[in-house]
Amino acid sequence: MARPLQKDNEAKTTLKDLDLNRLPKHIAIIMDGNGRWARERGFPRTIGHKKGIDAFKRILEFVSSLNIEVLSVYAFSTENWKRPKKEVDTLMELLSSSIKKQLDKINRKNIQIRVMGCIEDLPCEVKKNLKKAIELTKNNKGLIVNIGINYGSRREIVEGVKTVCRRVMQGQFDLETLNENSFKNFLDTKDLRDPDLVIRTGGELRLSNFMLWQSAYSELWFTDVYWPEFDKQDLIRAIYDYQQRERRFGGISIES
Ligand code: IPE
Ligand code: IPE
Ligand code: MG
Repeated sequence: MARPLQKDNEAKTTLKDLDLNRLPKHIAIIMDGNGRWARERGFPRTIGHKKGIDAFKRILEFVSSLNIEVLSVYAFSTENWKRPKKEVDTLMELLSSSIKKQLDKINRKNIQIRVMGCIEDLPCEVKKNLKKAIELTKNNKGLIVNIGINYGSRREIVEGVKTVCRRVMQGQFDLETLNENSFKNFLDTKDLRDPDLVIRTGGELRLSNFMLWQSAYSELWFTDVYWPEFDKQDLIRAIYDYQQRERRFGGISIES
């Protein structure tokens, strides 16, 4: 039986309730719950993934209308290869075709596409479309959309460590200059700022290997709403909650 959605019980928070001068500059979303959304409606999981793409388009439209610098999304994890081949193939096909279809519109909106994760191990068609999107939009100065695809944060960190070791051994990097700030440049996110707000839809209370380094001081926000149903209203509520919090970064409250 479908769970009652959290959104049904909440009073409406609207754009007017937000302080537009204090929006999170980087929002990261773990887009989870496609499969359960479909199953609870008697559809195959792949229909949930199709609806998930529509939800992404909706959220992208809204985020790009706000003054937000970066939107990171988790589209496919390094662990998602464990799923049945048919589901993986459909997911790859959906990701590839939607990037292809949306690319002109994305480019016209001045959006810059970036990817975190290992593109090289993706099927040819996906790899080709992603590389094309990255290349075409690389000089765009609007919203940065950072897609996690074949992404796993542990692998990202290990790869970063290996690159540091290689550079040190080749005499190209002085180990003494390695610190939390310089190590950032060895991660897939390189020059991107850390997420201010990490949202996970679909009811699970975990990060599932997503931006572990980068989210050290992010505000976390969870909702039971499945990703295919996540809309502008839910995002406004997440941002509203974010704006009620005090980020201390290990310091003390300004009131104490
Ligand atoms: C998120 O939805 C999409 C991907 C992980 C690719 P899921 O497919 O994980 O949906 P649930 O969590 O099984 O409902
Ligand atoms: C995380 O969701 C990955 C994406 C949303 C792409 P999963 O559905 O793979 O995570 P677990 O297995 O529930 O932790
Ligand atoms: Mg899931």
